[in-house]
Amino acid sequence: MVMDIVERILISEEEIQNRVRELAEQISEDYQGKEILLLCILKGGLMFLADLAKHIEVPVSMDFIGISSYGTATQSSGVVRITKDLEESIEGKHVLIIEDIIDSGLTLSYLLNNLSIRKPASLKICTLLDKQVNREVNIPVDYVGFTVPNEFLVGYGLDYSELYRNIPYIFVIKSSYYTNDD
Ligand code: IMP
Ligand code: MG
Repeated sequence: MVMDIVERILISEEEIQNRVRELAEQISEDYQGKEILLLCILKGGLMFLADLAKHIEVPVSMDFIGISSYGTATQSSGVVRITKDLEESIEGKHVLIIEDIIDSGLTLSYLLNNLSIRKPASLKICTLLDKQVNREVNIPVDYVGFTVPNEFLVGYGLDYSELYRNIPYIFVIKSSYYTNDD
């Protein structure tokens, strides 16, 4: 059972859904009269993208980028590799990056550099979670769902060794399951 690994629920399904709606409203207002290309970072951003997109009231298209940051199950190394590139050019488009969580910021910092040379009309970041205390590089984050403490979080897109992305709430796993294999 999934419940066996839950230490405590940090953000409930209802809290997530309410906040996602608020973000969608804000985004719809800010992008009035424009089209948005929602650029989802796989795989963590998937749930967030799906829920957020349903409530955005300007025309949106979607594309996906796969990124693998070399590291352990719970620590990113900042060395990033693109495992699946975008299908369409982003030149001249209003690109909104959809991310599950920003931790050190190294992954997004790499991605921002990589995308900005492809000449989008604008490039902004929307993250569900922000683990601000862990930031190592400064990056401009435009939309944040929740600022979260420095704990390893799982659920709603976030994985622990590729599992539990499907859980509809965000939780902390029991320390008996948590191995920081550095
Ligand atoms: P960063 O490069 O340190 O900002 O790491 C960002 C990536 O690390 C995210 O896209 C996640 O895939 C992963 N990550 C960071 N913190 C967590 C967490 O608490 N749970 C699950 N994945 C995380
Ligand atoms: Mg991950």
